[in-house]
Amino acid sequence: MKDKTVLITGANSGLGLATAKALAKKSFDLILLCRSEKKGQDAMADIQRDTPTVKVNLVTADLADLDSVRDVARKISQQYSRLDVLINNAGYTPATIEFTPDGIEKSFYASHVGHFVLTWHLLDLLKKTAAETGDVRIINLSSAAHFMGKKARFFRHIDNLSTWSAYGDDKLANILFTKGLARQLDGTGIRSYSVHPGAVSTNFGSDTPGFVGQLLKVASPLMRSPEKGAKTSIFLAASPLKSIGDGNNGGYFADSQSKAVSNRDVTDENADWLWEKSLPFV
Ligand SMILES: NC(=O)c1ccc[n+]([C@@H]2O[C@H](COP(=O)([O-])OP(=O)(O)OC[C@H]3O[C@@H](n4cnc5c(N)ncnc54)[C@H](OP(=O)(O)O)[C@@H]3O)[C@@H](O)[C@H]2O)c1
Repeated sequence: MKDKTVLITGANSGLGLATAKALAKKSFDLILLCRSEKKGQDAMADIQRDTPTVKVNLVTADLADLDSVRDVARKISQQYSRLDVLINNAGYTPATIEFTPDGIEKSFYASHVGHFVLTWHLLDLLKKTAAETGDVRIINLSSAAHFMGKKARFFRHIDNLSTWSAYGDDKLANILFTKGLARQLDGTGIRSYSVHPGAVSTNFGSDTPGFVGQLLKVASPLMRSPEKGAKTSIFLAASPLKSIGDGNNGGYFADSQSKAVSNRDVTDENADWLWEKSLPFV
């Protein structure tokens, strides 16, 4: 059997890098999507030191720059004959609130719209792989912080939006996108899962200003290591489908188990709504 190929966004740091290293050890071929060529090269060297036999390739794109996202998806689709697992991992807590010219909060734009466009343009390759293997997985990094999100704020310029509300919106959208993927791709052999990795000591929150930023720095030694935090993503990427559970397509996972979400905005109707609202960006 051929080795599986996984694409991981934000693979140069924290959870993305730990996930890449663990999947290299499980004989996955890696595609690292990073926005910085230098950081990506350093990550690639780190992974190769760890697993000298790994096949690893670096692609660069900024998820907030949709032209770069479309371009990278096109290159991957031309270069690769299979893509077994897509891990939409990149994300951040915004240090300040800024909007795109069309009024979309910038962390939402990178975290949701960027990943939607990337996934959309990889769908032919993912479907082709699924037609051959019956088993393709899309994993979206969300967070327990999705409880702070509100669907009513999505795609809207809101004065006085707090950085934590913006982050909650990003993470709620990751869960709704996961549900939407499961609904749209039902029966294709492509399954989707969202993840809360726990509180993990990474670069996450390093730009967060004020009291919360200080709190994150003080709490950092008490948090999980990236290796421990990556375990749920690794479980969903590499475990047999029967251990994930047949009925869990579109579901939310923490500590390698299916968990209930904590936001009433997580509905099939809202997942379909988000899908339709995101389509014009592709
Ligand atoms: N750490 C936690 O406690 C925690 C808890 C719940 C959920 N999560 C989620 O886990 C995921 C990974 O976070 P982490 O903790 O590993 O944080 P991290 O160490 O800061 O890594 C984030 C990664 O995302 C990349 N990234 C950010 N914006 C990007 C963009 N516009 N285009 C391309 N790449 C971009 C970063 O690239 P640069 O290095 O170039 O900035 C970095 O590689 C995030 O989705 C986060 O929301 C983390």
